[in-house]
Amino acid sequence: MSIKIGIILGSTRKSSNTKGISKYFESILKTNEEFKNIKIEIIHLTESFGHPLPFELENEIPQSKSNLKENLPNEYSNLLIKNWSKTISNWNGLIIITPQYNWGYPALLKNSFDHLYYEWNNLPFGLITIGGHGGSKVFKQLSEILEGGLKMKLINKDNNLQINLPKKYIISSEEDRVKGDENWLKDYKQDFEELIQDLLQTIKERRNEENVEL
Ligand SMILES: Cc1cc2nc3c(=O)[nH]c(=O)nc-3n(C[C@H](O)[C@H](O)[C@H](O)COP(=O)(O)O)c2cc1C
Repeated sequence: MSIKIGIILGSTRKSSNTKGISKYFESILKTNEEFKNIKIEIIHLTESFGHPLPFELENEIPQSKSNLKENLPNEYSNLLIKNWSKTISNWNGLIIITPQYNWGYPALLKNSFDHLYYEWNNLPFGLITIGGHGGSKVFKQLSEILEGGLKMKLINKDNNLQINLPKKYIISSEEDRVKGDENWLKDYKQDFEELIQDLLQTIKERRNEENVEL
């Protein structure tokens, strides 16, 4: 049984600490036998194919579209949004790895959610935040928006994975950003593995429920 997980990186900087941190987590997903059935798709909000998405939204609100997943991409007139809709509909779960910008979420990250609605509903997700103090404010804001506004299912509600970025990386020059092989990243290994185990468990339970209903 293969499982596809999207990983959205909230950073909108080319030379980004989030990118380096995500490389470390990617290496865990690739080497841990337990996760061998997981396929991942990483989205960088300015660099991945089809991004950045426009800031201008379509005139009809996403909540008024058809809620049938197979019809959804055709409901959008902009090709970038059609493709974004298809991308999300192919995911069984999502991990967001995001820095905190000025006590909040990066604008392009919020924008990437606002274009769609039914594609996000019920999607289980884990939230990893980054900041000098773990990015607790962006954790709180995004949890509320994604669970409340978009009816997504947060996995690590009581077990926040918040990364305390050492100050030297915050003020570093471009070439001295996190690479992904730093020793301090290992402090987050167990929490990350538990987060992925919880995500897998939720995806499996959901599949079982869907089979029962058929
Ligand atoms: C525009 C901007 C605003 C920031 N605001 C905060 C903040 O509110 N709290 C915090 O702990 N760090 C803040 N930082 C520091 C970031 O946590 C740090 O630069 C991190 O590396 C940003 O992720 P990135 O390198 O992937 O873009 C901010 C950084 C930027 C670029």
